[in-house]
Amino acid sequence: MAKALRWSEFFKCPINPADTKDFFFHFHVEGERVFVRDAEKRTLEIDFDKNHLDYQRRGHQGKNELIAKALGYAKGCRKVLDLSVGMGIDSVFLMQLGFQVTGVERSPVLYALLTEAFKRTEKEYLKSYQLYFADSLQFLQEHKGQFEIDSIYFDPMYPHKKKSALPKQEMVVFRDLVGHDEDASLVLKEALSWPVRRVVVKRPMKAEELLPGVIHSFEGKVVRYDSYVVG
Ligand SMILES: C[S@@+](CC[C@H](N)C(=O)[O-])C[C@H]1O[C@@H](n2cnc3c(N)ncnc32)[C@H](O)[C@@H]1O
Repeated sequence: MAKALRWSEFFKCPINPADTKDFFFHFHVEGERVFVRDAEKRTLEIDFDKNHLDYQRRGHQGKNELIAKALGYAKGCRKVLDLSVGMGIDSVFLMQLGFQVTGVERSPVLYALLTEAFKRTEKEYLKSYQLYFADSLQFLQEHKGQFEIDSIYFDPMYPHKKKSALPKQEMVVFRDLVGHDEDASLVLKEALSWPVRRVVVKRPMKAEELLPGVIHSFEGKVVRYDSYVVG
């Protein structure tokens, strides 16, 4: 109940409203478990100890993963600022690879799901994750120079992204929750003003660059990592 109360205050939404027709999303608290269900009964849940969203990747190539190369692992970059935590799939993978990640997410619902998932997880390597509820543009503007960061990572929503790391049901709820990230280029512009060694943007393979000035692209089959600063 304490957890339900806390999140209902955070969302400014009533607990167990008598009339639910005005609410498209329902935030469920069932013991330790929290999840979101939409009016069509599609569910979105974040649980780092379950593997339905690939939170424990096997058979990965460690520091040779494209994302690790792009973020400068081999050059000693370890401290990453993730400006778009989303479901935390990339952030968790980066922690698994040995990066230390600070993440920012602006969707209140995702922030709540992530907060609970980080609290609940039994994965020791996730315990030091630092999560902030903020808009990244504002976060970048207000905290320049206050964090020790080697590389910045940004994965904004792409309107025509066909392939997704999420299965269909989760993808529909996720997209409805976060919408499009129309301000992505402004966020990137601000990120480029930070004193870091890398700024990396994840894009679908065929998408245009978010901003001109890519120094190197690390290309996979479906996505690529555009690197803007190489220091
Ligand atoms: C494509 S998803 C990121 C998926 C994430 N990389 C993962 O592995 O789960 C984009 C996410 O970034 C968040 N986002 C986009 N722009 C943001 C901003 N300016 N500030 C904070 N969060 C942002 C969105 O709310 C959404 O959750």
